Amino acid sequence: MRISVVGLGKLGTPWLAVLASRGIDVVGVDRIPGHVAAILNRRTPISEPGLQSLLSEATGRIEATSDIKAAVSASDVTFVVVPTPSGADGTFSNLHVISAIREIGAALRGKTDYHLVVITSTVMPGSTSGPIRQALEGSSGRAVGVDLGLCYNPEFIALGSVIRDMLRPDFVLIGESDGRAGDLLASIYERVCENRPQIRRMNWVNAEITKLTVNSFVTAKISFANMISDLCDRLPGADAGTVLNAVGSDSRIGGKYLAPALGYGGPCFPRDNAAFTTMARNVGARADIAEATDAVNRQQVGRVVALVRSLLLRGSVGILGLSYKPDTAVVEESQGVTIASQLANEGYRVLAYDPQALDAAKSVLGSQVEVLEDAEACVKAADLLIVATAWPSFKNIAPQAFHRTTGRLIVIDCWRMLPVSEFTNLVDLVYLGRSSEQDIELLPAVARA
Ligand SMILES: NC(=O)c1ccc[n+]([C@@H]2O[C@H](COP(=O)([O-])OP(=O)(O)OC[C@H]3O[C@@H](n4cnc5c(N)ncnc54)[C@H](O)[C@@H]3O)[C@@H](O)[C@H]2O)c1
Repeated sequence: MRISVVGLGKLGTPWLAVLASRGIDVVGVDRIPGHVAAILNRRTPISEPGLQSLLSEATGRIEATSDIKAAVSASDVTFVVVPTPSGADGTFSNLHVISAIREIGAALRGKTDYHLVVITSTVMPGSTSGPIRQALEGSSGRAVGVDLGLCYNPEFIALGSVIRDMLRPDFVLIGESDGRAGDLLASIYERVCENRPQIRRMNWVNAEITKLTVNSFVTAKISFANMISDLCDRLPGADAGTVLNAVGSDSRIGGKYLAPALGYGGPCFPRDNAAFTTMARNVGARADIAEATDAVNRQQVGRVVALVRSLLLRGSVGILGLSYKPDTAVVEESQGVTIASQLANEGYRVLAYDPQALDAAKSVLGSQVEVLEDAEACVKAADLLIVATAWPSFKNIAPQAFHRTTGRLIVIDCWRMLPVSEFTNLVDLVYLGRSSEQDIELLPAVARA
């Protein structure tokens, strides 16, 4: 079996490499010549932990081209992993998917043997049975379900752990045109996955709804935790960390994603939840929980900015972490970036450091923020510090960098990650969701204001 993967971006390239690493011959396709050239040279066109070593090891099994027709003609299965950008109303555009499908269909006109087309891109419910099927049948001249399979098969991955998430998924979601198509796709996952995940097979629309529902539910959990966090901020003696740890011990609830921290960001959670809301509204259903989830999420940056305002009248705020999560350079919908921007607008001097996302953050924040090339310099220059992304390397910053000759540095540790034993004697640690029973001493910068 040979598999083609159309779209060699943040998801497509790891998928190509993972398939090859499990002994499958693959051919990747992208419109961007640089991505194709990178794959041909066994270099990764995108940054993702573990990806480069998979590409280097899979020599001989990976091809790449910008010619969809050639790739489809030479393969049995084609995955479509192209962007589906969100429109102003929150729905995903099928423009790139349809364009790719038309080219795939044209290639299939000249191919007589069975072919399976798999949509990995996130699409709105109704897309696979509607415009995608129509485009595939129209361009190929073949009927889906006879000698042509069509599946919707989104991935549940997080940037920074894409390879691990692909190799060891909690479950595999397959929306299938028919049993033959679903059997073939399931057999690929049985070969690729290192664990034995549940494979949930269903019709297209159920799979499309399931994908959005998973992300909408997870974001609801995050916002629920942040709602408790806001409550505990205001109740003397309360700590949302203690409360939510206990709540998460209930097996009906579970502890994952139940932490008092910043809101969610990145290229998937915010837009999937917004799409869920629009999907519901479009059919006359209500999506009150998804809407509240989004509203609570939007309040989280304001909570941190208000906290800074209450602790430091003016001066320098250091921000550790600008990527939307650790192990990625992506800053889309990053809470750290939004906090930096709002504090700069309020007149603070904002200094920031991130292990990978400085270039991306600079392109968004411009001159609003001074980016520093190392974490220690950021800590040393700050009058108040915010840990905005839980990069593990922040735990290794030398404690001396936090030491102040006058007063103590205030650290808003949004992820409660700095080792308390080393830091409580050195800095004033402020946690989201924990009421302060004692006033924190003002910083010298405040006292001078
Ligand atoms: N990135 C994530 O965390 C993530 C997670 C889950 C789902 N998804 C979904 O996966 C899809 C792809 O996301 P991504 O992050 O990999 O996007 P991306 O922008 O990183 O990569 C997409 C690639 O597709 C290429 N492309 C576009 N049209 C093409 C065409 N007609 N032929 C060949 N190549 C084409 C682009 O040049 C680009 O390299 C989206 O629908 C997204 O919602 C992404």
